[in-house]
Amino acid sequence: MKTPVTMIGLGPMGRAMARAYLGAGHPVTVWNRTTSRADDLVAAGATRAATPAESVAASPLVLLSLTHYAAMYEILGDVGDALAGKVVVNLGSDTPQAARDAADWLAERGAELLVGGVMVGADTVGTPDAYVFYSGPRSVFDEHEPALRVIGRPDHRGSDPAVAQLFYQALVHVFVTTLATFVQGAALLGTAGVPAREYAPLADELVELARSAFGVAAANIDATSTRTTAPPRR
Ligand SMILES: NC(=O)c1ccc[n+]([C@@H]2O[C@H](COP(=O)([O-])OP(=O)(O)OC[C@H]3O[C@@H](n4cnc5c(N)ncnc54)[C@H](OP(=O)(O)O)[C@@H]3O)[C@@H](O)[C@H]2O)c1
Repeated sequence: MKTPVTMIGLGPMGRAMARAYLGAGHPVTVWNRTTSRADDLVAAGATRAATPAESVAASPLVLLSLTHYAAMYEILGDVGDALAGKVVVNLGSDTPQAARDAADWLAERGAELLVGGVMVGADTVGTPDAYVFYSGPRSVFDEHEPALRVIGRPDHRGSDPAVAQLFYQALVHVFVTTLATFVQGAALLGTAGVPAREYAPLADELVELARSAFGVAAANIDATSTRTTAPPRR
C-alpha cells in the first residue's frame, strides 16, 4: 500500500498536491480551515478530517501547504500527542529562522520536520517539470522520498532546516529580479517610443551573457568567502 498522506492547507498549491496524491493512489486525508475547500477532493476520494488532530493521526506523513509558518502553530498547537512519531513536511514559504524554529517546536512534540521549497506553480505540481527543495534529516527524507516524488522531483539540500527556504528564496530572487529589470528597461526605452519587442531579443542576449558568468562568479565568491556557517544540526 502507498504511504497514507495528510494534506493540511487547501489553497491552490495544497489542492494540486492532494489531487496528485489521489491520482497516484495514496490514501489522502485532508483538513482545511475553510472546510468547503475540501469538497471536491472528498468527492474524488479524499477523507475529510473533522479536526487537525484527527488529520494528523490519520497518516505518518503530514504535509502542510499554508501561507506562512505562523498558520502551522495555529493549526497544530492544540493537537496534543498526535504529532508524536509523525513526519511533518512544511511546504510553505517563510524565513530560514522560521524553518529552524519549527524543527525545534516539532521535535519537542516528538515529530520530525522536512522543509520544502516548491519551485513551480500549482498547475505544474505532479508533472515532470516540478521540483521541490528539501532540508531536514537525510534519513527521514530518504524514507519518504518515494511519496515526496509524487508532487515533484525531490531535491534534498542539507540537514539544516533553513537550507530549503534559502534555495527557494535565492532562485525566486534570480527569476523575479531578472524579470523586473527587463520590465524596467522596457519602461526606459518606452519613454522614447521604442517598443518592448525591439528590445526583448537584445535583453535575451545579455541574460545569456550573465548566465555564462555564473560559474566564474561562483568560483570567485567561494574562493573569497568569509560567510559564517550555521551551527550544525541534527
Ligand atoms: N501557489 C503557488 O504557485 C506557489 C508556488 C510556490 C510556493 N507556494 C507556497 O505554497 C504555500 C501555499 O500557497 P497557496 O498558493 O496554496 O495559497 P496561500 O494563500 O498562500 O495558502 C492558503 C492556505 O493557508 C491556509 N491558512 C492561511 N492562514 C491560516 C491560518 N491562520 N490558519 C489556518 N489556515 C490558514 C488557508 O486556509 P483557508 O482556505 O481557510 O483560507 C489555505 O489553506 C505558500 O507558502 C506559498 O508561498 C505557492
